[in-house]
Amino acid sequence: GNALKSPPISESGSREIRAAAKAINAMQMRLRDYVEDREHLAAALAHDLRTPLTRMRLRLELLRRSPAREALAHDLADIESIASSVIDFAKFEVTEEKAERIDFWSLVESVADSFEDASFDEDATPSRGLICIARPVALRRCITNLIQNAVTYGKKAHLGVRRTGDTITLSIRDEGPGIPQAKLDAVFGSFVRLEESRNRTTGGLGLGLTIARNIARGAGGEVILSNYPGGGLLTELRLPVAA
Ligand SMILES: Nc1ncnc2c1ncn2[C@@H]1O[C@H](COP(=O)(O)OP(=O)(O)O)[C@@H](O)[C@H]1O
Ligand SMILES: [Mg+2]
Repeated sequence: GNALKSPPISESGSREIRAAAKAINAMQMRLRDYVEDREHLAAALAHDLRTPLTRMRLRLELLRRSPAREALAHDLADIESIASSVIDFAKFEVTEEKAERIDFWSLVESVADSFEDASFDEDATPSRGLICIARPVALRRCITNLIQNAVTYGKKAHLGVRRTGDTITLSIRDEGPGIPQAKLDAVFGSFVRLEESRNRTTGGLGLGLTIARNIARGAGGEVILSNYPGGGLLTELRLPVAA
């Protein structure tokens, strides 16, 4: 996250404050190394998995049709889906994509276009011309993950974009069961899926919200979940308006 990359706090003041600041700075550095190690490990692993997986896929195509081949194909598909989630996870953490000015509405519109069940609210006045600063490929992934969840777990995604002060908000309301209040934080954890979705064959590994929140925070923003009073989940992506 961002907090780990913030500069160390000043180690001056009374003796106790200096000691506390020192301890906090040391801990921040240890945590940062740990997280960066994990990110690089995931990236290397994902990269190295690609070649043998492709080779296996090609070899599989050459095998004669048999129940064993079907079973292998099924296992391989599972491994591929795990690998691609890890690749996604690693990619948005490690790549050096540069932040740039992005026309937020256009980006949301183009992501929404690829989902049959996502549409803009009729009464939402279009907030065009809102510019934010973010890594474009990453932000597209973030928005995709959030809309994907709404259509997967909530049937339909109703979108709205608005500006409040210096904040751009994308709101995504769905028609699903929402998330139990006590789980609203937990679902942002890596590999966390709720009971109902755990046995689904569709959907991911529980990394979608982790990735989305990391990307939002990387751009100075946040992802917020709440249960809509009238039912369904309300997902909000907030980003600072570019000066
Ligand atoms: N719009 C939603 N409505 C209900 N539950 C949701 C919604 N979005 C996410 N969830 C729950 O949060 C879990 C974690 O979501 P996510 O991190 O995107 O992982 P994944 O979609 O791969 O399971 C999902 O498995 C699901 O249980
Ligand atoms: Mg998801």
